[in-house]
Amino acid sequence: MRKKVIAGNWKMYNAPSKAVSFVNQIKDKIDTDKSDVVLCVPYISLQPVMDALKGTRVSVGAQNMHYKDEGAVTGEISGAMLKEMGVPYVIIGHSERRAGFNETDTGVNLKTIKALSLGLKPIVCVGESLKQRKEGITNDLLRRQTTIALYGISNGDAEKIIIAYEPIWAIGTGMAATSADAEEACATIRETVAGIYDRETADAIRILYGGSVTADNAPELFAQPNVDGGLVGGASLKPDFERVVNFDGK
Ligand code: PGA
Repeated sequence: MRKKVIAGNWKMYNAPSKAVSFVNQIKDKIDTDKSDVVLCVPYISLQPVMDALKGTRVSVGAQNMHYKDEGAVTGEISGAMLKEMGVPYVIIGHSERRAGFNETDTGVNLKTIKALSLGLKPIVCVGESLKQRKEGITNDLLRRQTTIALYGISNGDAEKIIIAYEPIWAIGTGMAATSADAEEACATIRETVAGIYDRETADAIRILYGGSVTADNAPELFAQPNVDGGLVGGASLKPDFERVVNFDGK
């Protein structure tokens, strides 16, 4: 049985003071027995949020990292720096970074390898644009993005990766994928993992759905056999996030 993962992606919201008051508002209502719960917050809010979460089992993650440990790379933060801070998770290859910061599949692979070598848990994002979906190439694209992201990674390490299927057209639009489409895409990703490695690795790896997840649609989306939770943007900024995390109402 794969443990669910519910990861909030705050994007460029919640500087430290707002971040801490929000976390204090929700932290005691979050159920971490059934799901691993992660808040991926802006770099400057990582330490304050980690401090606010002490004594809970809610984790934090960064939203990006550089694959080099250090160097003359103005404005970047390395995986090694996150590791030193004790940040356990990191999102890699979010579509907003692919689109706005020229991140490529090969760059995603480099970062994923680096994150794993440091013991960070990467949440690797893949997903198609509306144009690609209309052209009927969604599954091909997912196979390609997944294969490149995992290139050169052993099966022992692959199991530690979390893959987030995030159709670009569903992000921030209020138009979530149907549970059937989310299931088909996540199953395609899992079969790709099985093809590269083996059944055991494919059964172990956790695959999330992301894109306009809300407290209302989470129960159906997360009930799909190949959907192991969600990467949640907008709804992770609201007190309602507690309802997303406690999606099965138990
Ligand atoms: P959304 O964002 O939930 O606001 O659509 C998801 C994401 O970008 O990870």
